[in-house]
Amino acid sequence: MERDFVGKKEFPIKCEIGRGLEGAIVNNTQIGYVNGKEGRLCYRGISIEDLAKYSSFEETAYLLLFGKLPKRDELNGFKEKLKVSRSIPQGIVEMIKILPKDTHSMNLLMSAVAALAGYDKESQKVTLESEKEVAIRIISKIATVTAAISRIKKGKEVIEPREDLSHAENLVYMITGEVDESRPSLRGVDEEISKAIDMALILHADHGMSGSTFTCMVIHASLSDFYATIAGGIGSLKGPLHGGANERVIKMLQEIGTPSNVEEWYGRERKLHHKIPGFGHRIYHAHDPRARIFKEYCHRVATTEEIKNLLAIAERLEEVEIRELGEKKGIFPNVDFYSGIVYKALGLETSLFTPLFAVSRVAGWTARVLEYMPENRIFRPRAEYYGPLKQEYIPMEKR
Ligand code: SDX
Repeated sequence: MERDFVGKKEFPIKCEIGRGLEGAIVNNTQIGYVNGKEGRLCYRGISIEDLAKYSSFEETAYLLLFGKLPKRDELNGFKEKLKVSRSIPQGIVEMIKILPKDTHSMNLLMSAVAALAGYDKESQKVTLESEKEVAIRIISKIATVTAAISRIKKGKEVIEPREDLSHAENLVYMITGEVDESRPSLRGVDEEISKAIDMALILHADHGMSGSTFTCMVIHASLSDFYATIAGGIGSLKGPLHGGANERVIKMLQEIGTPSNVEEWYGRERKLHHKIPGFGHRIYHAHDPRARIFKEYCHRVATTEEIKNLLAIAERLEEVEIRELGEKKGIFPNVDFYSGIVYKALGLETSLFTPLFAVSRVAGWTARVLEYMPENRIFRPRAEYYGPLKQEYIPMEKR
């Protein structure tokens, strides 16, 4: 019977562990809760549906980091810290420019984030108080680095952040460079795109002990610095089994081409025992609530024939996958299945999709590392050895 995983455990504890640490409990947390049976997700007890509807990324990041919704002055103070940290050193821009043009965006992102440590001497202290400040600086800068990577890959000049824009608005502005002065009320940045990006940043901000979150905790538990820690999380998130799935989904939908091709395409893939990107989850054996929210949003932003067609293919594929594997194996759409359609509808390139995931998840990564620090202990599991034990050393001439 699947446990609900609610209630503080006193270590040492007993738990049944499957391959890939399935079911392993690595720590107690109050940051976020995922109920895989009911398809429920909450950050500090607040449902993801309410946060997506009423909150902002800044407010959600504050909630994850400090455990409560900020009062107005607290939120303004947090935004001010993000604002003053938003620019990135020219050396980082030059570094991204000299790397091979076809370097994957996530490799560029993790290289740049790790290198930012060289410009933040305080980051080498690694105390709880100093790490709280470094965390905020990384949350701010990772968005600017992502936008810079997007611009450099397109051969365009990097755009400096503006002081009058929110985190999501700045991200959009630094990526698109478009300023629509005809809409001064929106401070010149397209509201539809910024709202969608802000919602996407809320939806991806935390999700329990995912592979990338656990990676960050393992790295930081050795008291390595936060920049090295987040660079490691980015490396884990890149994988197509994890955050990289959103890129794969779009390529898959384009390959299928039309809704009428779905059945035949699906049959071929299943015969080859291929796992369909955007479906399945280690914890959810019900609909991922984030996928539901993104799917609803797709209908709002699907205005062109191209996007309407991608959405129609996706919905047909969802029907087929649920018919074949939903009840039978608990395989349902996960967060990556519809998110890429929203991003594509907003005009963002596919190579940006997984970096956008990191721009958001850095909030959950840093929050959980900070939560673990007061009771920090290095992660050091074991492997069961089953090789030979008494082997003699054979000199080269006798081999
Ligand atoms: C994210 O951990 C998190 O919270 C991650 C995340 C977050 O917010 O951080 O939610 C974000 O990473 C979402 C997942 C994105 N990845 C994908 O969409 C890639 C496709 N999905 C699969 O590779 C898989 O579902 C995983 C990696 C997500 C989960 O893998 P598990 O838990 O190790 O499951 P498994 O591979 O052992 O599969 C169990 C069974 C197998 O069947 P049997 O061999 O038992 O017969 O389910 C089947 C699998 O074949 N299965 C699928 C499937 N995923 C699992 N069958 C078809 N299509 C799929 N997508």
